[in-house]
Amino acid sequence: MFLIVFIFTTMFLRLTKKYKSIMIWVALVMSNKKVVLAFSGGLDTSVCVKYLQNNQKMDVITTTVDCGQEDDFDAIRKKSKMLGAIKHVNVDAKKEFVEKYVYRSIRANGLYQGKYPLATALARPLIADKIMKVAAQEGAAAVAHGCTGKGNDQVRFDIAMSSIDPSIKIIAPIREMNLTRDRELAYAKKNNVPLNDEIKKYSTDTNIWGRAIEAGQLEDPWLEPPEEIFSLVKNKMIPPEYLEIEFEKGMPMGVDNKKMSLLDIIRYLNIKAGKHGVGVVDHIEDRVVGIKTREIYEAPAAQTILAAHKDLEQLVLTKHELSFKQLVEDKWSWMVYSGLWFDPLREDLDRFIDATQNRVSGKVKMKLQNGSFRVVGRKSKYSLYRQTLATYASDSVFDQNLAKGFIELWGMETVIANKLSKNLSKEERR
Ligand code: ARG
Repeated sequence: MFLIVFIFTTMFLRLTKKYKSIMIWVALVMSNKKVVLAFSGGLDTSVCVKYLQNNQKMDVITTTVDCGQEDDFDAIRKKSKMLGAIKHVNVDAKKEFVEKYVYRSIRANGLYQGKYPLATALARPLIADKIMKVAAQEGAAAVAHGCTGKGNDQVRFDIAMSSIDPSIKIIAPIREMNLTRDRELAYAKKNNVPLNDEIKKYSTDTNIWGRAIEAGQLEDPWLEPPEEIFSLVKNKMIPPEYLEIEFEKGMPMGVDNKKMSLLDIIRYLNIKAGKHGVGVVDHIEDRVVGIKTREIYEAPAAQTILAAHKDLEQLVLTKHELSFKQLVEDKWSWMVYSGLWFDPLREDLDRFIDATQNRVSGKVKMKLQNGSFRVVGRKSKYSLYRQTLATYASDSVFDQNLAKGFIELWGMETVIANKLSKNLSKEERR
């Protein structure tokens, strides 16, 4: 109503045409009440719909981005409608997730603190990108997400969204209301948000690269995770099995002698390695926001692919490439974890990583057995391994006499330093 009166009055004011159109445009932008919400269909994002409608008086467009979480997307659409969203968008981003994000992480041996395969962290910049695209298409004035103020995901979403469009308004209802679980449930009840199976025991996040499980009784770091929390990893004794992964320039191209897309390879390995009980990570993790947290992951495909890739690199890269790449990998993983996917340094690091992958082609053989796996064979046409040098058999081509001079030079400073310290007096030694 205010908008109509404003535009009407503007039109009759004695202003130039240019000023009139600017004022009308500003009024339209200011009155834009459309917000695009990243919507999973869970309790947090359902509460967000109500907050945006009731407290912010906005029209909510919910958007679900499918990164392989295998949810019931029809049920999510229905829920959005039931909550009164003006529109729901479902984006199938599985292929893009795997080909642009997971693929990079494989080449980078992406593991945060040496353990976490970054599943959630890798999906966030992609989800942010999709939400921003819908916002642009819909001409929305704001975007929203259901992150709390205690986690990493708010950092990832906020930085990604602002990097894509610094002028966008970002609303984080759960963070803004400072909601705890109890208060959130009370708010949900008051606002008729269905609670059917929502009062979950744990907080989970799933995509094709892995599943994170936290909170509830798992907050006690001494407590062994109960079997019921796992869905990919099985705890049944079955006979050992072999697995072969084929790489071409650092990219998995096939498994068990079958060529497959990366998406299908990951699906295949989540089942095959998962049924041997492979893929669990249980560790204490340092969040970006200064909190230590106990995290449990199940990621059978990620664990086996990363271990195979790393093993193959060990065969084909020089020790100099390997030791420098390790520094780059640690930095890369830290950046992705910390919400800096869109920082130019991440891309710079990727250029280095890409340059190292030209020779990372070959096959790795693994054995899966009772919850563990190990690499039992590897081969590549770019192998730097020379059996004729390494062998202890009599056909060795390695001239052992060369070693003596080398050791003398290699250890020269160490020997001199020790000689000097032996000559130090008791006083000087202290
Ligand atoms: N700690 C992991 C990360 O920050 C996983 C978070 C998963 N989220 C969840 N709601 N359980 O990437």
